[in-house]
Amino acid sequence: MPLSIDVRNVTRTYDDLQAVADVSFSLPAGRTLGLIGPNGAGKTTLLRMICTLVQPDCGDVLVEGFSVRNQPREVRRRLGFMPAEFGSPRGVSIAEYLEYFACLSGLSAAERTIRVRDVCELTELRGRESVVVNGLSTGNRQRLLLAKTLLHDPAVLVLDEPASGLDPRARNELRSIIRTLASLGKSVLISSHILPDIEDISDQIAIMEAGRLVLHGDLSNLQQAHIGQRRIARIKVAETDQERARELLLTLPFVVGCNLVDRGLTVVYEAEDSSPLLTVLLQHRIRVSYFSENDVDLEQIFMNTTAGKVT
Ligand SMILES: Nc1ncnc2c1ncn2[C@@H]1O[C@H](COP(=O)(O)OP(=O)(O)OP(=O)(O)O)[C@@H](O)[C@H]1O
Ligand SMILES: [Mg+2]
Repeated sequence: MPLSIDVRNVTRTYDDLQAVADVSFSLPAGRTLGLIGPNGAGKTTLLRMICTLVQPDCGDVLVEGFSVRNQPREVRRRLGFMPAEFGSPRGVSIAEYLEYFACLSGLSAAERTIRVRDVCELTELRGRESVVVNGLSTGNRQRLLLAKTLLHDPAVLVLDEPASGLDPRARNELRSIIRTLASLGKSVLISSHILPDIEDISDQIAIMEAGRLVLHGDLSNLQQAHIGQRRIARIKVAETDQERARELLLTLPFVVGCNLVDRGLTVVYEAEDSSPLLTVLLQHRIRVSYFSENDVDLEQIFMNTTAGKVT
């Protein structure tokens, strides 16, 4: 499968701080990769190197086969970058703003009209083209930034925390826009601190900590690999049985903890099979009304992988 992004041993140092330290990974064409990591992990620095905005000290990145070091113009033609920060000009409408950047991309007048309409359609900004940019809500501002990123129809999208500050509905809409872009065949590299969103839209995950890549792979493989480490089950029993149930569960050697949370028991255990939890309760005639074994989620993978190091 051709690679959209091929990061090869890139390092970037600021004074004596290694913001990104010897990071390598690749993203096949048409896939979505979620990049996560604590504050200061080096995510933005890495994304900016991929987008030719920061020069690596060592290593290189190929975007659709073009080097950020030697062919930055070719890279920029193929890649759209949505930064985390947005400086909004005053008194300019959405249409004028997009027209301006479409002009900078070198599109002809006829192409500009079509592209501005298309990106507004994709980002659900149609009908709002005359609204002034500096008064936009966070949701519409993020839509506009994404629309601008899409103007030159790049095959590769790099989005730095696009969901930051969005309310749940706006986050939902953004997820759906990103899924649409992926279904159009775009490759997407997206950073975020909102793990359920990343889990929802990504095929692959990369985790950075203190400048290093600590994990990279297909989400489903990572979930498999983390089974066997700590897992969580939620169990509801009759109120009068709660304390006895807790004591019984704690007698099992693979149960690490058991606490009453939200009128149910949250059991932390280290085993692949959760059925002995239920068996012991039923054998002692505990009245169980609910039992759920949680899948390994991205938050668990993140917690198992990172050590809380900061730069
Ligand atoms: N231009 C710069 N000059 C000096 N230090 C920098 C610069 N840019 C980033 N850094 C430092 O590099 C480290 C990585 O920063 P970066 O912004 O890449 O992290 P991040 O993972 O994006 O964090 P966040 O989750 O907070 O956005 C931090 O310690 C930061 O202070
Ligand atoms: Mg950042």
